[in-house]
Amino acid sequence: MKAEACTYVIFGATGNLSQVKLMPALYHLDCEALLPEGTRIVAVGRRDWTQQHWCDEVRKMLEAKVRQGLDEVVFRRFCERMVFHKGDLNQAECYTGLAELLSQSDFPVNRAFYLAISPSDFGAVIESLSQVGLLDEDGNWSRIIIEKPFGYDLLSSQALQRRISKFLREEQIYRIDHYLGKGMVQNLLVFRFANTMLEPLWNRHYIDHIQITHSEELGIGSRAHYYEGAGALRDMLQSHLMQLLALVTMEPPASMEAEALRDEKVKVLKSIRPISKEAVNACAFRAQYGSGNIHGERVKSYREEDNVAEDSVTETYAALKLYVDNWRWKDVPIYMRTGKRMAKAQSVISICFRQPPLQFFRDTQVRCPNPNWLLLGIQPEECIRMEIVVKEPGLEMSTRVTSLDAGYRNDNDHHTDAYEDLLLDVIQGDRSLFLRWDEVEWSWRIVDPVLQKWSEERDYIATYPAGSWGPIESRRIFDKESHYWRHSLTPKCD
Ligand code: BG6
Repeated sequence: MKAEACTYVIFGATGNLSQVKLMPALYHLDCEALLPEGTRIVAVGRRDWTQQHWCDEVRKMLEAKVRQGLDEVVFRRFCERMVFHKGDLNQAECYTGLAELLSQSDFPVNRAFYLAISPSDFGAVIESLSQVGLLDEDGNWSRIIIEKPFGYDLLSSQALQRRISKFLREEQIYRIDHYLGKGMVQNLLVFRFANTMLEPLWNRHYIDHIQITHSEELGIGSRAHYYEGAGALRDMLQSHLMQLLALVTMEPPASMEAEALRDEKVKVLKSIRPISKEAVNACAFRAQYGSGNIHGERVKSYREEDNVAEDSVTETYAALKLYVDNWRWKDVPIYMRTGKRMAKAQSVISICFRQPPLQFFRDTQVRCPNPNWLLLGIQPEECIRMEIVVKEPGLEMSTRVTSLDAGYRNDNDHHTDAYEDLLLDVIQGDRSLFLRWDEVEWSWRIVDPVLQKWSEERDYIATYPAGSWGPIESRRIFDKESHYWRHSLTPKCD
């Protein structure tokens, strides 16, 4: 896809997201000569920094993050693209000054505004940009990029959408879910729709249940201010894990074009069986980390973290069972779980196939063969692994589980960060990896009853020791006694 030069404006350019993701991603795109000629990068920040000071700051950000050491030639070019615009988001002068700056002839008329700022400021900033004409499209394009959380629940997300849609057409809004930029998440689509082998099996007749897990070893760090009001269900499950669910369960789209893809995702989200408030306890489980050990080091409990209320009931672990009520998936449970301070950091989709209809090996040692599992490692291990049962060599009829491995990355394939892909897609106008409003709205609809119930029950939350796999009681969401959380990508470790 051909990209046109644009002016990338980053609000919150001195903040954490910009430091660890945006600036390194733009720099890497520049290294690969993927930023169209003439592209400018405008950093908006409150500090009184000179151009030189800003370049020095960016150098520090990049030195901490770039893959192969800073390339001084590219860095010089990168600095020439950049301008630091001092401004306070709450002041009208910030926007008039910006409009004046961008009207100069060396700033491309196509504009992308990345709002790396608090979501509570999205509405006001968009309105202010509109007032100074920066969102107008007249032979040029003007796009807004926003990160989750898009709202706090169904009602607040609808209110935010109503507000911003006064100033923007849907086509101008790029809602990032950085999971969609991950290589293995895109590979999931290729795996499903470029191979015919599994398609006949991809349904309720052969699949027993699906698990989607994202676990982290890290705690909340310095993010209490955000996390206390969010919790694991909003932070990971409503957004990233719901996207994974949609990609695993959706029907093949008419094409890989953005609208076709997003139509199918919405269709599957709409088919998810609503959870009634009475059913919340049977379908959802929450918990909070206590103190414990991570890599042999003692770590604090959630309530002891800085800026966390000592009686906080914010969940750092959430598990949810959903059903997709359509012909393909009716009654196949989909278990999702996420947690901070868990035993291992990983994101995995585990698909458990049904047991064979008959146990043929009745008079042998083959008692209860393991079901087949298909494991899709999203991170850190990127793999597609199919576990099958084979005979053990020898005279006896006994079996073992072996894995067929479809590695995603060869040793010399270079690694790109999700943000590189996504920032480039914005310039190219490719919205397939961004969320359309109805996707976000349906995702909120699904989790809203759980959020409501949990917000009413504020006197107790289960805990789990940091460094563990979460409370055993989360098993209560399982449909069958034989179901268990699959933690590992290797057979027989759970
Ligand atoms: C973010 C969440 O959206 O995703 C964080 O706010 C979480 O809490 C992060 O840690 C996980 O992303 P990744 O790419 O590290 O798996």
